[in-house]
Amino acid sequence: MEGVRVPAARELSVQLTVNGVPHAATVPARTLLVHFLRDHLRLTGTHVGCDTTQCGACTVALDGVAVKSCTVLAAQAGGHAVTTIEGIASEHRTTPDGSDPADGALDPVQRAFKDEHALQCGYCTPGMVMAVRQLLADHPDPTEDQVRHALSGNICRCTGYQNIVAAALRAAAGGAGTGTGTGREG
Ligand code: FES
Ligand code: FES
Repeated sequence: MEGVRVPAARELSVQLTVNGVPHAATVPARTLLVHFLRDHLRLTGTHVGCDTTQCGACTVALDGVAVKSCTVLAAQAGGHAVTTIEGIASEHRTTPDGSDPADGALDPVQRAFKDEHALQCGYCTPGMVMAVRQLLADHPDPTEDQVRHALSGNICRCTGYQNIVAAALRAAAGGAGTGTGTGREG
C-alpha cells in the first residue's frame, strides 16, 4: 500500500564456534540455528525434518549438550560452541602412536551405526548419532529401555528402530560413552 513502509527484518551479528572453527555473520534475528548451519555455513549434515521440534533430525550439541537446532535461534548460540555431525569424526583422530590417521575416521557411534546397518535412507541418522552420543554421555552403559527412551524424540521412517537401538548398545559396549568426545565437550 502506498505510504506504508514495511520495516526491514531486524538483523543481528552472531559469533559462535562450530566444530572448533570460529564464525561470524549478520543474519535476520529470526534465523534458526539449523538454518544458520545449513544455509550460512553449508554444513548440510544437520537435517530439517519438521521444523516443529518433533523429528530430531536437526540435533546438534550446544556446549556439549544435545539440542534440536530448530528450537534454537542462531543468536542464542552466540558465544557458544556447536558440534555438528561433520565435527565428530575428527575428535577421534589420535592413533596409539600419536599420529593423525586419515581424515574421515569415524566417531565410535558412527562406526556402530555402520556395523549394525542402523540406517537406510540416512535422513534421520545425523540426529540419531548426536542423540546417542548424548545418551552415552549420560548413561555410558545404558539398558535397552534407556536407549529407547533417549531416542524417543528422534523419528526414523525406515528402520523400525531395532538396528539403531543395537547400534547404541554396541557403541556402549565398545566404551564409546567413556571415551573422548562423547559428552559435554566445550
Ligand atoms: Fe528439528 Fe525436526 S527439524 S526436530
Ligand atoms: Fe531413513 Fe531413518 S534411515 S529416516
